[in-house]
Amino acid sequence: MGDGAPAPAPAGVSASNRPPPDRAGVGLKSEHYRTVLETRPDLGWFEVHPENYMLAGGPPLRYLEAVRADHPLSLHGVGMSLGSCGPPPRGHLDRLRALVDRFEPFVVSEHLSWSRIGDRFLADLLPVPMTREALDVMADNVARAQDHLRRRILIENPSTYLQFNGEEIPEPEFLSELARRTGCGLLLDVNNLFVCASNHAFDPCAWLDAFALEAVEEIHLAGHAVDDADGHPIRIDDHGSAVIEEVWALYREVIGRRGPVPTLIERDANLPPFEALLAEAHLADRVAREASALRGAGGSGVVAGAASTGRA
Ligand SMILES: [Fe+2]
Repeated sequence: MGDGAPAPAPAGVSASNRPPPDRAGVGLKSEHYRTVLETRPDLGWFEVHPENYMLAGGPPLRYLEAVRADHPLSLHGVGMSLGSCGPPPRGHLDRLRALVDRFEPFVVSEHLSWSRIGDRFLADLLPVPMTREALDVMADNVARAQDHLRRRILIENPSTYLQFNGEEIPEPEFLSELARRTGCGLLLDVNNLFVCASNHAFDPCAWLDAFALEAVEEIHLAGHAVDDADGHPIRIDDHGSAVIEEVWALYREVIGRRGPVPTLIERDANLPPFEALLAEAHLADRVAREASALRGAGGSGVVAGAASTGRA
């Protein structure tokens, strides 16, 4: 191929559809295509943003097909804007469904956020107010998306930096009720929970007490930045560094309560060599197995897991 991309893969995919629950994955970046295909890493799965592959053809789709031949895949959407009034754009849903049919992902997920007003799209995932009206909007749109895609989707808890006046429903209850009403699953981003707990001064374990952990089918782990330029530290979810120890501790707590769930190392900025992400994924594998074993023995995720805090 003149562009250096792999030749088109045979029709269909060959890797198993679903990874074991105690195997971690990483986000697939174009910078790592060749390393992944040449080294065929021992990794549970990969995740991509489907919007980057809504193409008629070309190298990105061929690379993704080649990677998918060896690994399960998750599609993590950023374009449905399920918190906007009115249904998600039909064309977007059609393109997403075509990717779902082609790549057979084990998970399709989206965010508790909005980024569209009419036909105008914004570059950020904006926060949804925790109100009954917003819950109705989200539930309608999640149901529409699931009907169109003919499958369950997962909705992710956001990282936020402000809270609205007049909010009516605590966030974990909002998400739990959304899952109950629509049958959707939940994606628990443990770093987002830690960031929000720090920014808004609440106890993340109390948040988990009110959250439908049984509906969680994927977990995200990531690093974040701290901005204290005005003397008031705020944690920014930038996916630009390694997972910090406090987030690993909260991850142990979640696995201790929930059991192992496929977990993603999210990294979108300051991209390191692929080997560094693979090492972080292997650490997540180990932490999940340790926390899960302690759960089986009746131990607490955080307290008992404190014996193993070193990075692999
Ligand atoms: Fe996330």
